[in-house]
Amino acid sequence: MAEPLLEVEDLRVSVSDGGRTVAAVDSVSFRVDAGDAVGLVGESGSGKSLTLRAILGLLPPGVKVSSGSVRFQGVDLLADPRALRRCRGGGISMIFQEPMTALNPVVRVGRQIVDGARHRQGWSRTQAREEMLRLAREMGIPDVEAALDLYPHELSGGLRQRVMIAAALANRPRLLLCDEPTTALDVTIQDQIIKLLARLRAELSMSLLYVTHDLSVVGQICERVEVMYSGRLLERGSLRSIFQAPRHPYTLGLIRATPDVDSNEKLEPIPGSAPTVFDRPAGCPFQPRCAFAEKDCRSGEFSLRAMTDDHATACIHSERCAAVGEVREVG
Ligand SMILES: Nc1ncnc2c1ncn2[C@@H]1O[C@H](COP(=O)(O)OP(=O)(O)OP(=O)(O)O)[C@@H](O)[C@H]1O
Ligand SMILES: [Mg+2]
Repeated sequence: MAEPLLEVEDLRVSVSDGGRTVAAVDSVSFRVDAGDAVGLVGESGSGKSLTLRAILGLLPPGVKVSSGSVRFQGVDLLADPRALRRCRGGGISMIFQEPMTALNPVVRVGRQIVDGARHRQGWSRTQAREEMLRLAREMGIPDVEAALDLYPHELSGGLRQRVMIAAALANRPRLLLCDEPTTALDVTIQDQIIKLLARLRAELSMSLLYVTHDLSVVGQICERVEVMYSGRLLERGSLRSIFQAPRHPYTLGLIRATPDVDSNEKLEPIPGSAPTVFDRPAGCPFQPRCAFAEKDCRSGEFSLRAMTDDHATACIHSERCAAVGEVREVG
């Protein structure tokens, strides 16, 4: 069995609106093994960013981990703040959804790419500069020398995002947490960065936990998939089992809503919209939008049950997905 690098167990992250406190992330457990690339997918508001932020102890004010554990190389980071600080950067690095959260507005971007890493890797000033230029070029940053002399606010959104990705990679982390790292970028750059991440992952033996709402990106870079909805995991499996034999109606809906570059088939959006954290239904969280829902979906607990070694679903009527027939190819 592969060595577990990250093990998240029964994670609950709570948010409040003054009076009420509810779990925005609820009973979430998953693992990322050494060398793994795991995609965490789901619609907006499903709790993907809060899960990543909880791992690194970087939750926004008012948002708290209320229970659970996050073990990295066997150490519970939630119970050991010193271990958490030590593992940030070289152990676990993160590419944030909003680049401005991660960049220091008063430091030139070139310095931000290598400053942390220089100390950790013991690089000389010249080595650090070479590494920075190499990464920035690979990232497709035009006019590299001039760009690295600028401050974050002087760069376009797309360039800022690429600088942040370069800064995370310069740390050569064991595990890279990516939160929609390419959403703000145009398709050509997006493709370039996904290829670069895939290559560096192999070169640096780096594991990836890759958050996105875009299944086609997952198909390009991940081997395993966790499907999240309304703060819970609804399905888990290998890329193949998730794409070719989804066993949760929500996953099926996500696949059918994903554009397929090779076909003109009409997309079918999932009907309705996800509830807010304060407005979640009883029973299966997806039941109000689900075409297969029955009375028994409206109450009780729904958690992942293994069907095979590499496939688990929280749906109690998963055989209905199997009966649906052909699923759109993604990835
Ligand atoms: N700082 C906050 N205070 C209160 N509630 C929050 C806060 N941040 C997130 N939430 C709530 O928690 C839920 C999950 O948020 P999260 O940002 O993790 O979603 P997400 O899956 O990353 O969505 P997106 O794809 O839009 O980035 C959301 O419904 C949101 O309303
Ligand atoms: Mg998010």
